[in-house]
Amino acid sequence: MLKLRTPYPRFVNAKEIIHGVNSIKALSGLQAVKVALIIGLSLSKKEELLKKITSSINCHQLHVIIRSWEDEPTLSSLQPVLDELIPFQPDCIIAIGGGSVIDGVKLVWAFYEHPGLSDSVLSRAFALPKLRGKARFCAIPTTAGTGSEVSSSAVFFDPEKRKKVPVVTHDFLPDLVILDPNLLVGIPRNILLSTVIDALSHAIEGYVSKLNNPLMDRFSELAISSISNHILKAIDFRNEEILAELQYAAMLAGWVQNHCVVGVSHALAHQMGSFKVPHGVANAIFLPLSIRFNSQDNDTKQRYALLAKNSGVGDSFYDLEQLIIRISQFGSFSLKLSDYGFTEEYTKDLLLLQNALDDPGARFNPVSLDHEKLTNLLENAL
Ligand SMILES: [Fe+2]
Repeated sequence: MLKLRTPYPRFVNAKEIIHGVNSIKALSGLQAVKVALIIGLSLSKKEELLKKITSSINCHQLHVIIRSWEDEPTLSSLQPVLDELIPFQPDCIIAIGGGSVIDGVKLVWAFYEHPGLSDSVLSRAFALPKLRGKARFCAIPTTAGTGSEVSSSAVFFDPEKRKKVPVVTHDFLPDLVILDPNLLVGIPRNILLSTVIDALSHAIEGYVSKLNNPLMDRFSELAISSISNHILKAIDFRNEEILAELQYAAMLAGWVQNHCVVGVSHALAHQMGSFKVPHGVANAIFLPLSIRFNSQDNDTKQRYALLAKNSGVGDSFYDLEQLIIRISQFGSFSLKLSDYGFTEEYTKDLLLLQNALDDPGARFNPVSLDHEKLTNLLENAL
């Protein structure tokens, strides 16, 4: 409706969001002829659940495809899925999985609609041609944290440039999102914790980003308060009500990330693809350090204090830092970069530092960054 850029904050979102226990059954109301269902590996192993999902989908023809990429997608790893998808010619694509599945499917969808997209179109924000000429898109997350289901971007890893590249278009916002906590019931503890920390980092980094705005502030405060109230209960009792709260918090934080971008913790986390540090774990490492670093600026320190107070977790940046550390301690993942093969020499790697500086997270971080400051942060994470 409006031009892409306006001087006022705007709110863009998925077209429809269905939520609640057993809401996956809403797929029985789907209006589609040929549906391609693209799923992650873990769901492909849960035969009963998969059967329940496929039998709910209302369509004439259904084709189930298991994603072909591991962890984060690379462009070449999308090809086997495209090879199955293109001859099928679906008019609806459903992605069920964690953030990397949903991101990968967004990219598969873009290549299905526009084969041969060039690198320069992919890497320029809002340069992608219009989607939905062939298919509509539905995203169903199986983790609570990445916010990919309400994000206008899809991230892929470029192994040559050793960096993660975000492809950005509001067309990626799904036609339909389903948040069914049943899909999270058996989630492994480390994945639950690390994806929730990713959500925390979206809420916290967005709150102090140069793009923060009052509407998103409310979402951040609510997301943090909900996570701090529910995450420990979720570890012990995987009941649907608690998991639903985490799904809502992840979506709220996802909205914040989508509108305020994020900060230096994400700028560094995005460089950890070569070292196979999961995205949420990378944020568990960098977020406390980035809060401490940004608190050198008095205004930012006050913003952290306001966030801690309004979300009920304390009254200073220290309380936010401690919340992340406390949650991380319940996981069995290492919080030291050196345990992932990241040695001291990488802290001064010029390509890595420049990639981090070029990341949108660095651009909108409240405190300006340079190679030396990033090196210091990396050294503290070893
Ligand atoms: Fe993230």
